[in-house]
Amino acid sequence: MLFFVVLTVLAASANAKFYRDCGSAEATVQNVEVSGCAEDAKECILKRNTNATFSIEFTPISNVKEVQTIVHGVIMNLPVPFPLPQPDACKDNNLTCPLQAGKPVKYHTTMPILKSYPKVRVDVKWELKDENSEDLVCILIPARLQ
Ligand SMILES: *[C@@H]1O[C@H](CO)[C@@H](O)[C@H](O)[C@H]1NC(C)=O
Ligand SMILES: *[C@@H]1O[C@H](CO)[C@@H](O)[C@H](O)[C@H]1NC(C)=O
Repeated sequence: MLFFVVLTVLAASANAKFYRDCGSAEATVQNVEVSGCAEDAKECILKRNTNATFSIEFTPISNVKEVQTIVHGVIMNLPVPFPLPQPDACKDNNLTCPLQAGKPVKYHTTMPILKSYPKVRVDVKWELKDENSEDLVCILIPARLQ
């Protein structure tokens, strides 16, 4: 019995997407795309001195007035806040606010991967929060800076 459970879990993880949901409570996430990251990749390679693009397709459960982007780099379980030049996701990120309940949208952003970043394994924790600071989207992207 346990053997079959293990097999099923293994089979499921073999088909898994590269990202993990870490509590998208106020929306359902349809898809995540990161430049240079295949859908079935174990980790995304973020090349330093390039611009990485991130897209997240999601559908809010209720109407949303404001959306804020919060990014952390989690290195050895320690989340380090990652300052963004434009944390307001309603500006320059392909979202037209307010967002409507049940209407799919596609958040799109570009992030410079600076040459000064260390070459480390990092889990990129990407959150989009609504005006009540609730997570619309919370995803974890395993990555390696190169
Ligand atoms: C990244 O994008 C910025 C802004 O569009 C641009 O100025 C910069 O040259 C780009 N960097 C690289 C390495 O492509
Ligand atoms: C912007 O959003 C529209 C509608 O949701 C989508 O069709 C389009 O592909 C998005 N553009 C980018 C660059 O992601």
